[in-house]
Amino acid sequence: MVEVLTRHASVLTADQTSAVIALCSQVFQIDYAWYMDLCPDRMHVLGYVDGQLVAHALWLDRPLRVGRGPWLRSAYVEGVATHAAHRSRGYGAAVMRRVQAEIAGYDLGALSPAVPAWYATLGWERWQGPLWIEHDGALEATPDDELVLIYRTPCTPALDLHAALTAPWRPFEQW
Ligand SMILES: CC(C)(COP(=O)(O)OP(=O)(O)OC[C@H]1O[C@@H](n2cnc3c(N)ncnc32)[C@H](O)[C@@H]1OP(=O)(O)O)[C@@H](O)C(=O)NCCC(=O)NCCS
Repeated sequence: MVEVLTRHASVLTADQTSAVIALCSQVFQIDYAWYMDLCPDRMHVLGYVDGQLVAHALWLDRPLRVGRGPWLRSAYVEGVATHAAHRSRGYGAAVMRRVQAEIAGYDLGALSPAVPAWYATLGWERWQGPLWIEHDGALEATPDDELVLIYRTPCTPALDLHAALTAPWRPFEQW
C-alpha cells in the first residue's frame, strides 16, 4: 500500500525535501533543487512505500485565461514522477488522484504532459486551442508542439477547449 501525504513546501522536513530532489532529479535529469527554489509556494503530494518516497507530484497556483474571459485560478501540476523501480503499481495514479481531490476548490487544473495518454485515464483533457503567454502586456504564441491538459474540478466554469488559453510568463518552462 502506498501512503500518500500532502504538504506545503514550507513544512516539508529536510528528509522529505531531499527525497523529492533526489527522485525528481533522477527522473527528469535536471537539478530539481534549482527548480524548487524558483517556486517556493508549492504544494507537494508524496507517495511512500515502506518509508521510501516512490512517487511525487506538486502543484503551483497559476492564473489562466480562456479567450478574453476572466483570469481563472488554476492549480498547475508539475513534477509528476514515480521511481523507475516502482512503476506500473498504481503509485503515480494514487498521487495524481490525491492532487485531483486536493485541487477541488480551484477553477481548474492544468499541466504540460510528457505522457498524455496516461493522464487521459485520470480524466485530464487536451486543450485544443492556441496557447499564449502574456509577457509585459504582450501575447507570445507557444510553439505548436506544446501540449497542455486541463482537469475539471467541481468549480470549473463552462470551458471552450478550442478557445485560446493564456498563462502569465514565468522565468522557466512556460508550460
Ligand atoms: C508517468 C509515470 C508518473 C507513471 O507512474 P506509475 O506509478 O508507473 O503510474 P501507474 O502505475 O499509476 O500507471 C501505470 C500505467 O500507466 C500506463 N502508462 C505508463 N506510461 C504511459 C504512457 N506513456 N502512455 C499510456 N499509458 C502509460 C502503463 O501502461 C501502466 O499500466 P500497466 O500497469 O497496466 O502497465 C511514470 O511512468 C514516470 O515517472 N515517468 C517518467 C516521468 C514522467 O514522464 N512524468 C510525467 C511528466 S508530465
